[in-house]
Amino acid sequence: MEAGLRARSWSEIRSLFALDADATHLNTGTVGAMPHEVLDVVDRVTREWTGGLLDVYPPGLYPEHRAAIGRSYGVDQDEMVITHNATEGMARVIHGLDLREGDEVVTTSHECYSVLSNLNLLRHRHGVVVTVVTLPTGFDVRAEDVVERFAAAITPRTKVLAFAGITLFTGTMLPIRALCELAHRHGLTTVIDGALMAGMLDCDFRALGADFISCSGSKFQCGPLGTGLLYVRNKVHPEHNPLPLPAFWPIISTWYPMQGTPPPRTTTSVESCNIGDFLQSAGSASIARGAALARACELWDEIGRDRIERRVFELAEHARTAVAERFGTAAMYSPGADQRLRSPLIAFHPFRDPADAWNVKKVAEFVSRLESEHRIWTRWTEFDVEGSPHQHYAARLTTHLFNDHAEIDRAVAVMGRLAEQMS
Ligand SMILES: Cc1ncc(COP(=O)(O)O)c(C=O)c1O
Repeated sequence: MEAGLRARSWSEIRSLFALDADATHLNTGTVGAMPHEVLDVVDRVTREWTGGLLDVYPPGLYPEHRAAIGRSYGVDQDEMVITHNATEGMARVIHGLDLREGDEVVTTSHECYSVLSNLNLLRHRHGVVVTVVTLPTGFDVRAEDVVERFAAAITPRTKVLAFAGITLFTGTMLPIRALCELAHRHGLTTVIDGALMAGMLDCDFRALGADFISCSGSKFQCGPLGTGLLYVRNKVHPEHNPLPLPAFWPIISTWYPMQGTPPPRTTTSVESCNIGDFLQSAGSASIARGAALARACELWDEIGRDRIERRVFELAEHARTAVAERFGTAAMYSPGADQRLRSPLIAFHPFRDPADAWNVKKVAEFVSRLESEHRIWTRWTEFDVEGSPHQHYAARLTTHLFNDHAEIDRAVAVMGRLAEQMS
């Protein structure tokens, strides 16, 4: 089955995945499904080292895996780190930046808890000022509306822009390159929560222009739980990001010298200090998970990352149209009119009464009944909406390469009937 995956049909590719045959998985925004082969790698490598003589330390630097994964994202081994998840990567970046009292970070209220809690810790520990903007929501939002919000929040004390590539609550794909260019114009460091980007987007991390991108390995990339990818800019390619490398302390490192200083970081496109090694070496490593994540990435390359991205977005447009037809565009929190902001995560208000958007119990029950009565797996999200006195709650579905049109149609029809019953 492996040979020629690029030529395989989507139904053949679906059979690669360890999916429950009776369930509809529309929740890759939370966790993907592993291919059988990836599961086998976890098992095989675990057996190889358990009770054996394999040294679990040297493979901890994963040079080949990092090089191979890096190639898939247009970067080199020194810029790529295998982490335990997006949260760990973000925490190591946020606390590794050289921020002092009074420095400002601009972020959004639609960030994952993993970002906002770490920034709040930074505020309490070091007196860093965290400026939180509320992102616009709804079908008609445009990329310019998003960039304007960030631009208006920047002051002469701002040092960092921190934002999700794709937000988990409303599934908004932020205009990443435009935000990075805004940061470049103001001399700011860019920290991207890319939890949902890896395995969805066929992208060149360097060309996005960010300093850091922390991704989950277990969502769209379909690696094991407890895996992540972290891109750290380690060379200056002025066409992508003309700023010097930001000062960065690789916290949690067994590679950082015990005496003396590490080599200076480069000011050119030639590496002078392998920051990836400093971050990768952090005690004994989960080598089975690292190997399995590398295999998942390889499978993606074999299927074709361009092909996967097209498939994911084509299914998303199918789902978006079905949701819009059934519930109306006014019920949608996810952008739709501006193609640049669309992602495969679609959040909407399912009930007739708009006031139910504040009723967490009802939205949670909707999602839970989809699962218990219909075996349709989605999730609900909560987020603030400009001008609203309360948080809003939405149902959210996510499409991935293993989904198909028929199950999306069925799921949206079921959602329509259930919402009607509950309205
Ligand atoms: C945007 C976003 N950031 C961060 C996370 C946390 O990811 P992880 O479990 O890999 O730490 C999630 C999880 O859903 C997410 O959607």
